[in-house]
Amino acid sequence: MKILMVCLGNICRSPLAEGILQHKAKAAGLLWEVDSAGTSNYHIGEPPHRLSQKVALQHGIDISHQKGRQFTARDIQSFDKIFVMDTSNYADVQRMAGKYWDASKVDLLLNAIHPQSQQNVPDPWYGNEDGYHQVFNLISEACDCIIAKAQQGQH
Ligand code: 4NP
Repeated sequence: MKILMVCLGNICRSPLAEGILQHKAKAAGLLWEVDSAGTSNYHIGEPPHRLSQKVALQHGIDISHQKGRQFTARDIQSFDKIFVMDTSNYADVQRMAGKYWDASKVDLLLNAIHPQSQQNVPDPWYGNEDGYHQVFNLISEACDCIIAKAQQGQH
């Protein structure tokens, strides 16, 4: 199973999602490959935001090695499942995928908790540290649901 986490900058939310799902999948004995990307080119090659790194580390997850990259249309083919953080990411991925678009592979991350609720993981970029803790908890809950569903054979 290859899973891609996508946000706008690939420095705040999706690096957390990559680290959290990798960590939980490994703990559950699942051999999943997890990666992340941004729809924008703003932060290519950069490490995750220092507050994403800090909050992850407080939960025993080291994401400092990650490097920002931009989503490409080919990611639709390369990955089995692509989780986006918000509805704007969804629209961008759909547009950038072009002829490779496959709606069955792409979903909002929080739909893993509340199917079809279309809820966004809020962008913590303009806020303070509290926002990063809130985002960590939301993503963590969604990843628990993804793993629970996989273990129940619902994938
Ligand atoms: P992310 O947050 O999409 O969760 O990585 C953002 C990071 C950077 C910017 C916007 C959102 N930016 O405008 O540079």
